[in-house]
Amino acid sequence: MRATIADLHRHLGETVTLSGWVYNTRSSGKVAFVIVRDGTGLCQCVVAKTPVTEALFEEASKLTQESSIRVTGTVTANERQAGGFELGLTGLEVVHRSENYPITPKPHGIEFLMRHRHLHLRSRRQWSILKIRATLIDEIRSFFNRNGFTLIDTPIFSPAAGEGTQTLFTVDYFGEPVYLAQTGQLYVEAGAMAFGKVYCFGPTFRAEKSKTRRHLTEFWMVEPEIAYAELEDVMQVAEDFICSIVERVLRDHRADLEFLGRNLASLEKMSKPFYRLTHAEVADLLRGPKVREFLEQDLATKQARLTVVNQSLAEKEAQLKGPALKKHLHDALVGEVHSLRQESHDLAAEIENIPQHMQLAANFDPHEDLGGSDETIIARMHDRPVFVTHYPRGCKAFYMKVNAEDRTRVNNFDLLAPEGYGEIIGGSQREDDYDTLVERIHEQGMTTDDYEWYLDLRRYGTVPHGGFGLGVERTLAWLCGLEHIREAIPFARLMGKMYPEPRGGDDVGQE
Ligand code: 4AD
Ligand code: MG
Repeated sequence: MRATIADLHRHLGETVTLSGWVYNTRSSGKVAFVIVRDGTGLCQCVVAKTPVTEALFEEASKLTQESSIRVTGTVTANERQAGGFELGLTGLEVVHRSENYPITPKPHGIEFLMRHRHLHLRSRRQWSILKIRATLIDEIRSFFNRNGFTLIDTPIFSPAAGEGTQTLFTVDYFGEPVYLAQTGQLYVEAGAMAFGKVYCFGPTFRAEKSKTRRHLTEFWMVEPEIAYAELEDVMQVAEDFICSIVERVLRDHRADLEFLGRNLASLEKMSKPFYRLTHAEVADLLRGPKVREFLEQDLATKQARLTVVNQSLAEKEAQLKGPALKKHLHDALVGEVHSLRQESHDLAAEIENIPQHMQLAANFDPHEDLGGSDETIIARMHDRPVFVTHYPRGCKAFYMKVNAEDRTRVNNFDLLAPEGYGEIIGGSQREDDYDTLVERIHEQGMTTDDYEWYLDLRRYGTVPHGGFGLGVERTLAWLCGLEHIREAIPFARLMGKMYPEPRGGDDVGQE
């Protein structure tokens, strides 16, 4: 009977056939173990060497990594195995024998893995991350669908900028330059006036000239838009939305999050209300003693940790140079050395950056947007997400509503994810007054010619309204506890990089 690994619990005691690939093998000389993956999970298959099974045992022992195979066997329970089941092997068919699979079980540098992204997707870690991504996307759609929002698909070819002119990708549209969408927002605003509550969800493009762990040039964004809503109404939707995402991912992916080493306690703490700080309060915080003390403490903690890590690294490296070890002990030690090296390298880089972050915070200009390091600091000082509201109008998009009491500020928010992740949502109430909107378009050096249809929304039945955009990859990076956004999308596009690279290239080790 054909089965999948995820379904094995329904087949206890039965004989089934799994179709998959060889993830790993080991043999004690008497028993051969083959870890098979089939896309739904991993399953250990076992065959002992007896006179009857000799041929099968030999064949199983010779299997190579990532060969495609069909295995037949009896399903038994084994609590110690991932998934809780294993297969007593009775038959084996090699569909294709894979030779010299480039990604071996030894540790590889991340650049090498990313260059082989088409194969890297098969690894257990990437499998967990991208399974969570699929659930996240499902929850995004379900949340808006069950809360009365109508999906409005917005175009990717755009004649005008939605989020400033700095990050536009231009394409030739029958001889005319047009841009790839930076946002669907202007179009969902039109949708909101027709349907009340709407959302768009799709790929978004920004020519970001920054090589950071938070920036992709192509990412996925969901943008709800609500008619008859003010800033606080929009923030409450964002709050409920984040809570439902976290709850769903915790419900469906506890084992994956644990496998990724995610600290679950911090996700479990998610509850309303989130912290609310104004931009002015954040500016005071950054320039004041609390942030300085926080960073000094951070520096001391990291230096202490670096000493411990470096000492342990030196000991393990010496052990590797010493008398030969059994293969599995040697392999385990190589793995430990690799992760200690990585940690030491990361800590050293962080320690080097702290004085600069301290200086940036102390000299923070209260008229400016928050920088990446400012967001990191604020997000690390809080254990739940933080809304930062009312930014100076000069540093935010033209469509944000000017605040009635303080006309130098806008009614907007960024939502910062805790643990240093920073902005995952940007949102605002929209400028619904025709004259102010025209003034804001001019203020940002643009012309109303490109925005005539958008201005119609203020000419014919304008109402207070607002919405936000949540970036899928930044949210996933936070949920999974990833160091870098490149693992949060199947095939990442960054400044100067598209993965996989046409030619994989050699593994140059740690990069
Ligand atoms: O803050 P942003 O630029 O807001 C907008 O685009 C609004 N039009 C949204 C709206 O109000 N409808 O982007 C929203 C989110 C960010 O908070 C971030 O999560 C993500 O999109 N994002 C990026 N993610 C990855 N790489 C980039 N270069 C990103 N730029 C923005
Ligand atoms: Mg933003």
